[in-house]
Amino acid sequence: MTASLASMAYIGATILFILSLGGLSNPETARRGNLFGMIGMAIAVLATIWGPRVTGAGVAYIVVALVIGASVGLYAAKKVQMTQMPELVALMHSLVGLAACLVGFASYVDTSVAFEGAEKVIHEVEIYIGILIGAVTFSGSVVAFGKLSGKIGGKPLLLPGRHLLNLAALLIVIWFGREFVAAHDVAAGMVPLLVMTVIALLFGVHMVMAIGGADMPVVVSMLNSYSGWAAAATGFMLSNDLLIVTGALVGSSGAILSYIMCRAMNRNFISVIAGGFGGGAPAPKGASGATEPQGEVQPVSSVETAELLREAKSVIIVPGYGMAVAQAQHTVFEITKQLRDNGVNVRFAIHPVAGRMPGHMNVLLAEAKVPYDIVMEMDEINDDFPGTDVAMVIGANDIVNPAAQDDPSSPIAGMPVIEVWKAKTSIVMKRSMASGYAGVDNPLFYKENNRMLFGDAKKMLDEVLVALRS
Ligand code: TAP
Repeated sequence: MTASLASMAYIGATILFILSLGGLSNPETARRGNLFGMIGMAIAVLATIWGPRVTGAGVAYIVVALVIGASVGLYAAKKVQMTQMPELVALMHSLVGLAACLVGFASYVDTSVAFEGAEKVIHEVEIYIGILIGAVTFSGSVVAFGKLSGKIGGKPLLLPGRHLLNLAALLIVIWFGREFVAAHDVAAGMVPLLVMTVIALLFGVHMVMAIGGADMPVVVSMLNSYSGWAAAATGFMLSNDLLIVTGALVGSSGAILSYIMCRAMNRNFISVIAGGFGGGAPAPKGASGATEPQGEVQPVSSVETAELLREAKSVIIVPGYGMAVAQAQHTVFEITKQLRDNGVNVRFAIHPVAGRMPGHMNVLLAEAKVPYDIVMEMDEINDDFPGTDVAMVIGANDIVNPAAQDDPSSPIAGMPVIEVWKAKTSIVMKRSMASGYAGVDNPLFYKENNRMLFGDAKKMLDEVLVALRS
């Protein structure tokens, strides 16, 4: 393939990636968006293999690596549970970071292309920044994987003077950057490069370890953004335009998503970038007397739940992580259909961080074929609860916790929540009184107009459906 043909293929792939991102912004066009992305990636890979820069045995190396990578990817995609997706995504971000580091070191030791003067400085700055971003992304993503999979505790690790530590690390990295560029040969430059890499790895660990429970979603999307910038940096090192553009697309869209999530969770964007949130540390459970909810819970049966739903004119369903765990979305759809056939106005309220990844609930509901027009964002529907007969919470906890509004000492204080308690009756479906991801008690369970339907969401909803149909 000639260089100009390869460039044209890269431009085509870039356009497909942009169309892909555009498609993914809406559930109705998301499938098409995915297809565009897959075609774009196939074109990009083929144009690279057959392009002018890969010659001789290079093709064989790439094909072997492709077969190994694709097999691992296929196996992981088939085996991973929907609830483990965020961990898998975090792990994949770590691979992008690792790749950026390896490419950086390889570019530095590769002396086959000689750079001179300003070009040499630019090339070395690219390597330095590429490895820096890659190392932070790699270690941060590995820790995020550990936290999301429960292998590392969710509690934030807050070292004394951590902001000063971060600042000192930044200054050392800048100093060694100067040393690196000033080095006369590869051996001399390797020392500052390695020191910076170790500092960047430690910074990545420190940054994510400092994030507590409910704030993790923002970090996952931040790391997504970092992985994009790491890929863009790799593109600069390899002089690969497609990698630069693709990396920039991922980096900027991830940054926009992080910003949107910060706003949705009432967090400060800058403090996320700096690593660690000022006051976001979850307090030990029950640490303050005021946070412990008082009162009695009122359990209901599935038959009583069906009765409440049958008598309602309007119902809002609030799905959460537990719906994903129980894989209850198909039964939720059947119940929705049954109620709508009976003339009940059924809608869904989706919190921006419901579940364990952005858009988690939308994906599940779309998979179950719930019509998009009755699936509302939190802000669109929150004012409608006072006029709603039944709010049915399915396996959600933190996102419907009134303490976020009422208790300034709560670790989730200030996080916007779905106001289910304002409905005439709320029903919370979960297996026990256990807390959610953020590890905080939920006063909603004790409210007078709230009922608890204890049990696995799928099992209980199956029973509700049978009762509704009888
Ligand atoms: P959570 O607050 O985690 O609550 C989920 C509830 O589901 C749990 O209290 C659990 O109670 C229940 N549950 C688990 N398995 C169940 C089953 N089989 N049947 C019925 N119930 C079940 O979830 P949420 O309300 O969706 O809030 C999301 C939380 O995750 C937020 O704190 C958010 O910050 C965090 N987070 C979100 C993301 C993204 S990007 N969305 C990423 C990481 C973390 P029982 O054990 O009593 O059943």
